[in-house]
Amino acid sequence: MPGPAIPETSLLDQWGRSAEKLRISITDRCNFRCTYCMPEEGLNWLNREAILSYEEILRLARIFVELGIRQIRLTGGEPLLRKDLPVLVKQLKALPLLEGLSITTNGVLLKKQAQALYQAGLKSYNISLDSLDPVRFSQAVRRDALSQVFEGLQSLAQFPDVTIKINVVVIRGFNEHEAVDFARLAQEHDWEVRFIEFMPLGTDDHWQQQMVVSGDSLRQTIAEVYPLQLRSKAGKHPAERWRFQDSDSGGLGFINSVSAPFCEACNRIRLTADGQIRTCLFSLKENDLKILLRNGSSDALIAEHIQQIVWHKEAGHGINQADFQRPARSMSSIGG
Ligand code: GTP
Ligand code: 5AD
Ligand code: SF4
Repeated sequence: MPGPAIPETSLLDQWGRSAEKLRISITDRCNFRCTYCMPEEGLNWLNREAILSYEEILRLARIFVELGIRQIRLTGGEPLLRKDLPVLVKQLKALPLLEGLSITTNGVLLKKQAQALYQAGLKSYNISLDSLDPVRFSQAVRRDALSQVFEGLQSLAQFPDVTIKINVVVIRGFNEHEAVDFARLAQEHDWEVRFIEFMPLGTDDHWQQQMVVSGDSLRQTIAEVYPLQLRSKAGKHPAERWRFQDSDSGGLGFINSVSAPFCEACNRIRLTADGQIRTCLFSLKENDLKILLRNGSSDALIAEHIQQIVWHKEAGHGINQADFQRPARSMSSIGG
């Protein structure tokens, strides 16, 4: 006898897409100050009561999963700054219909926490690493921390069933010449290195179109040294993925969000640390779930609300249109 049918997703939007991935930012705080993400100084952190508790996150996660979410990614700010993270991981892992739990982190606190997070069930990491040169790295994140990130990565090496992807935001004139070095790193460690096109998301006015290096041009540069074969196009995953023709170890991804937007297939929604749903990375409007959590609303009412919000998801980000407006929130509090 087949088991009970898993319900079809009911998180549809008006453009015919369905939301299957939820990205939960669990803190707006960060121990880095990446130039493309946060100002050097200033930016007030949310106070404690403004942030969802683990109980609240878990309640929402359960409702989202019952509605059709199958993958949850924890983000920040820096998620490893949140106290007792393994407790949350373990509880999320126990949600019956959830198929995947992953995290995006800068890796600097991983050395201390890798073991406990693994025991709690976390096996998928995306780690931000914008340069392999210690000086350039510290310029990018405004902290001298490259060796700590590598120690963090090393502490994951003891777990063969942990997958690691490396996120590199590429900025013209800054780090594009490291592309081949990153490809070598991918092969050496059996990691997937993903090159992300720089997007207009910081709180300052730093971004300019000419600072974007297209993923295609990077790929061509790399392919002259390491021939590549297409593995899969972008769509349900933001990255176009390539394998090395001469090696089964490692791979490359190109997240071409500016030169080739993948919004048509977007299956992601975001929950901020203060309980707002953002239906797009670039949403100008947010929808408050915290108020419902704290005013005694039933699960059914919250679920109905979520369905309405997702239905009105925007078609795409419009970065390349003349009337494009960037969101007021810093990337650190949206969650990447
Ligand atoms: P997988 O599910 O493993 O494919 O994860 P992911 O690639 O979505 O995760 P990650 O957090 O590492 O995303 C990498 C980067 O891709 C983000 O930091 C963003 O820069 C970009 N990205 C992710 N999702 C979106 C999205 O919905 N829209 C746009 N424009 N960019 C996105
Ligand atoms: N453009 C592209 N990616 C960005 N990230 C942060 N800011 C930007 C931006 N302006 C990505 C970083 C990190 C994740 C949290 O968000 O690569 O991996
Ligand atoms: Fe922190 Fe990540 Fe933003 Fe860098 S990109 S400042 S690591 S939240």
